[in-house]
Amino acid sequence: MSVAARHLYVHLPFCAHRCGYCDFVTLVGRPEQHNRYVDALLTELELERGLLATEVETIFLGGGTPTFTEPRPLARLLAALPSAAELTVEANPETVTPVLAALLRDHGVTRVSLGAQSFSPRLLQVLERVAQPDTVRRAFYHLRDAGFDNISLDLLYGIPGQSPAELEADLGEALELGPEHLSCYELEAKPGTRFTHAHGAELARQADAMETYFELVVERLTGAGFRWYETANFCLAPEHAGGRDLRSRHNLAYWLARDYLGIGIGAVSTIEGRRWRNAPRLAGYLQALERRARPPRELEPLDEETRLRERVMLGLRLDEPLPLAGLGRAVDEPALERMRGLGLASLAVGPDGDRALSLTRRGRLLGGGVTAELVS
Ligand SMILES: C[S@@+](CC[C@H](N)C(=O)[O-])C[C@H]1O[C@@H](n2cnc3c(N)ncnc32)[C@H](O)[C@@H]1O
Ligand code: SF4
Repeated sequence: MSVAARHLYVHLPFCAHRCGYCDFVTLVGRPEQHNRYVDALLTELELERGLLATEVETIFLGGGTPTFTEPRPLARLLAALPSAAELTVEANPETVTPVLAALLRDHGVTRVSLGAQSFSPRLLQVLERVAQPDTVRRAFYHLRDAGFDNISLDLLYGIPGQSPAELEADLGEALELGPEHLSCYELEAKPGTRFTHAHGAELARQADAMETYFELVVERLTGAGFRWYETANFCLAPEHAGGRDLRSRHNLAYWLARDYLGIGIGAVSTIEGRRWRNAPRLAGYLQALERRARPPRELEPLDEETRLRERVMLGLRLDEPLPLAGLGRAVDEPALERMRGLGLASLAVGPDGDRALSLTRRGRLLGGGVTAELVS
């Protein structure tokens, strides 16, 4: 059987500043190394090209702050990537100028995911963001002016001190811009971050209130015509979008447990039941690829049982029923009956006896807890 991932993730780790709450693989500044890093990425892509299908469906440039990468290497990278039906780039608002927006557009980027996080100056300060609310709005309009018709905004909720009214206001401001897609994440206290050190106790205190905040997000966005297609992701429903399916095709591939190739420091790949993670150190990555050798990486054991469980956990994040055929014993049948009895899960049985599992709205709002019960 030929190995052929149709999804490519490219990690661009550089950021202007390290936000206290973030534990992604990031590096501050280092403009003099951006060129070398892109050279290494392109060598890694060349070495692994055989793992990618001839027709790549989606590419996602994530970070870090991909748009903080120096324009020349960024353009060089974009020009060298295979063509894909969806090419998303993550952007921080303060990096988006008309020139940058045009660079992305001219190099075939089809979708931009803009890290707004909040529209409150106070909350942006708590998050140590460089961007002010006006910076976010300006960035959005620069992208629109450059011709982007698929823009996503990232928002965070559960920011220390954020009231429900402030969350409402953030959602209102985001909707006012008219994005095609919104990702709304509950702020997580990542172990070992500055933020967790400073605000961890407060985040733990407010944890119980987060269910209400999540419900508020879902109510507000579905009420505004958005499809709640994944736990934290919303897209303008086709009837409000001229029939377009605006779900992130790249992220859907993860949630549907498809194979993907990841390149760059810290990037993960999952192909044909094998998973590996590139080491996060820049020096080792550059040195290996300059010798045209594969970078240091860790192989993660991924047995069949783990894969099936993962498939259930990811699949239940989506708003479409999960076919149970082929999932073996990954779903705990007594738990399924209990969850159905509690109105948290439902089961559809097709004419040929095939079963498909869904979480109800209440089940989706409770999320992880329900899924954990269902996965045996
Ligand atoms: C890989 S980050 C990069 C985005 C971009 N550099 C930025 O800061 O806007 C993607 C998204 O993850 C989310 N994120 C980062 N740290 C998080 C945390 N501790 N808890 C929840 N979401 C987080 C943010 O919403 C962010 O936009
Ligand atoms: S949140 Fe974004 S800008 Fe801030 S350090 Fe993380 S990746 Fe960089």
